[in-house]
Amino acid sequence: MTNPNIIRASRAVLHVTDLEQSFAFYDALGFIETARDENHLYLRGLEEHNHHSLCLKKGTEPVVEAISYKVEAENDLETLAKLFKKHNQDVRWLQKGEQTAMGRALRVTDPSGLTVEFYHEMETVDRLLQRYDLYKGAKVQRIDHFNCMVEDVEAAHNFYLRELGFRCSEYTATENDNIWAAWLHRKPSVHDVAFMNGLGPRLHHVGYWLKDPMSLIDACDVLASIGYGPNIERGPGRHGLSNAFFLYLRDPDGHRIELYNGDYLTSDPDFKPIRWDLDDPRRATFWGHEAPDSWFEEASHFLTLQGEQTVSLTEPKLEKKKPTFII
Ligand SMILES: [Fe+2]
Repeated sequence: MTNPNIIRASRAVLHVTDLEQSFAFYDALGFIETARDENHLYLRGLEEHNHHSLCLKKGTEPVVEAISYKVEAENDLETLAKLFKKHNQDVRWLQKGEQTAMGRALRVTDPSGLTVEFYHEMETVDRLLQRYDLYKGAKVQRIDHFNCMVEDVEAAHNFYLRELGFRCSEYTATENDNIWAAWLHRKPSVHDVAFMNGLGPRLHHVGYWLKDPMSLIDACDVLASIGYGPNIERGPGRHGLSNAFFLYLRDPDGHRIELYNGDYLTSDPDFKPIRWDLDDPRRATFWGHEAPDSWFEEASHFLTLQGEQTVSLTEPKLEKKKPTFII
């Protein structure tokens, strides 16, 4: 079986408890509202020509319905369905029109227990890259990646590389050469998804790409000036891993959003994954400052494939170290 052609991380479906409260936060950050109805809010970045990259859905609990990847062609969905079934993973089809602006979608439970979606077709809208008159907040440009906590990073790494055609840009290894964390990509950047050793499966954050570091600092000023200072959880700072200039925010429901800039090109076939030792503190924060405990401990839970309950969690396979060793 040939690998399916996954293009990139392309949308997240998050449940939130109050759409207006969420809109106020994401609007302040500079997201663009494409559409809304009574139960959904569809948001995108300025650069994005897809209908949305963030679907906020009204729910009773702040959980993750799915993280989603766009594929090259409709028949990649069939290939993926066969592949996941071969690995005894559950699959579920959502028909065209069942979700606003979207064609058919395949949802699966991946081997880590994450609820993952694949789709090919989404309506397109105006790209607002040069509508500088609309730029505000962090001037959010586009979705970049997901970061998930899973109980067996090495197994997730192997499945995504061998079965889904991902490549590894950077990873953290223990002294016994176990993979502790891994940054995997389909588009030629550092990652579309990162897996971190931890209580999982949980979504640690959705990363959005900014055009420059100053946009990230502007976001801090704007958020603080309108009372969202407490939503700034970590940063600004620079990760050694991925070279990201980062800021982590908690939305009004506690979902974590990363504003992100500073990674690099990974397209060349001779690019070799960069290894970081678990005891090198520059991995997590290149400048050396500590992250808050909440960043290590808190993350969003996934809904099951059928959406009736949250996926139960499993302690990580590798021994839990002190919090600064999470990535
Ligand atoms: Fe990230």
